[in-house]
Amino acid sequence: MQRLVIEGEKRLVGEIEVHGAKNSALPLLAACVLSRGESCLHNCPKLTDVYAACRILSCLGCKCERQGDTVVVNTDGLDNFNVPDELMREMRSSIVFLGAILGRVGKCRLSFPGGCELGPRPIDMHISALKQMGAAIKEEHGTLECDVGNGLKGAKIVLSFPSVGATENIILAAVTAKGKTVIHNAAREPEICDLARFLNKCGAKIDGFGEDTISVQGVEKLYGCEYDVMPDRIVAATYLSAAASTCGELTLLHTRTEDIESVLPVFEQMGCSLYTYENKIYINARRGIKAVKTIRTMPFPGFPTDAQAVVMAALAKARGTSVMIENIFSNRFRHVDELVRMGADIKTEGKVAIIDGVKRLSGAKVRASDLRGGAALVVAALGAEGVTQISDIKYIDRGYEAIEQAFSSVGGTIKRVQ
Ligand code: EPZ
Repeated sequence: MQRLVIEGEKRLVGEIEVHGAKNSALPLLAACVLSRGESCLHNCPKLTDVYAACRILSCLGCKCERQGDTVVVNTDGLDNFNVPDELMREMRSSIVFLGAILGRVGKCRLSFPGGCELGPRPIDMHISALKQMGAAIKEEHGTLECDVGNGLKGAKIVLSFPSVGATENIILAAVTAKGKTVIHNAAREPEICDLARFLNKCGAKIDGFGEDTISVQGVEKLYGCEYDVMPDRIVAATYLSAAASTCGELTLLHTRTEDIESVLPVFEQMGCSLYTYENKIYINARRGIKAVKTIRTMPFPGFPTDAQAVVMAALAKARGTSVMIENIFSNRFRHVDELVRMGADIKTEGKVAIIDGVKRLSGAKVRASDLRGGAALVVAALGAEGVTQISDIKYIDRGYEAIEQAFSSVGGTIKRVQ
């Protein structure tokens, strides 16, 4: 078992590169199933969840090879429509393979997906939408048996909540369905736009992405293309939080300001200086940070739930009291007990966390319990006095490429040990 050992209170200074987005790369890899021939995904992050998606592709009969930051997928050998239970359990987003496999093969057998424990994570909206598009879906002993008979048909689908995964699954199923699919109350996250742009490059006809009504006109076939995975907006928010936590001064390279417009004002409120230019974000937190007004997590374009934990870790040392309200997942404060071990003064009740900033956090032995919660411990540890040991870092490796190298390159003292 590996751990991260972090000696804190080292100001982070310098330039740091933001890698490709996990939550875009995963649906893009699923989308490759729909295209004949070869697709090349550039800027594809080296993450355990991405490797798991590649294993699903291989198990379907596709060739999936990595060349540096590029993953090349060839679907010519695709001859299987079963995804084994152990691969489904590795991550939540394995469920987006359902729409893609149904679109290409017309049949699919898989089990309920795994992923980080953030509270109940049902897939009822995915199933109901695919049924409306003509799929017969039987659920037995934890397995979903899906068959589209004579093919998927376009439908008008109204989502009760703008679910990211359900919107992706519907788009994937709709691109080669007969007729037009219209999704109302669709998710507007930048990762949805990345998926739609990739599919359109492969020959799909998707309109309205980035808005709450998306329409998809089915086409007969898609063909592979080359595409650059968007930069990871949550990794960017994590680096900004680490700068705030260490009173540092960082320039984030290869990022996109428009994707984190709801996050940047929070750092301004903390008293950091921020400049955005080209695809870079400069942050200066040398004067220390202060508490912020209530932060509410919301679907995009609101403040992202995925940035809640890392920003909270920075606010643990802010002057004054901040409040965070988690509206998306019911169990997404599991990092709080670990931050409290490090000396933070944070209380939670239901979906509300009250963060009374303390002067100093102190290093401790802590455990990551989910991906972003784990990253929050890294942010806190970088700004804490003394040494912190973080265990269960497999969660962090799901979404951050060699996090110890990224922070070491800007002055952090952080090592991975066995
Ligand atoms: C995606 O998860 C992301 N994962 C999550 O990132 C992110 O936190 C989440 O969107 C919200 O932004 C990927 O993209 C791989 P949802 P997803 O469907 O698609 C409820 C990270 O840290 N819901 O938008 O699973 C659900 O329970 C991860 O990188 C239903 O009730 O999120 C939740 O409360 C964690 N029924 C809410 O909707 C459904 O059928 C939002 O879920 C589907 C969802």
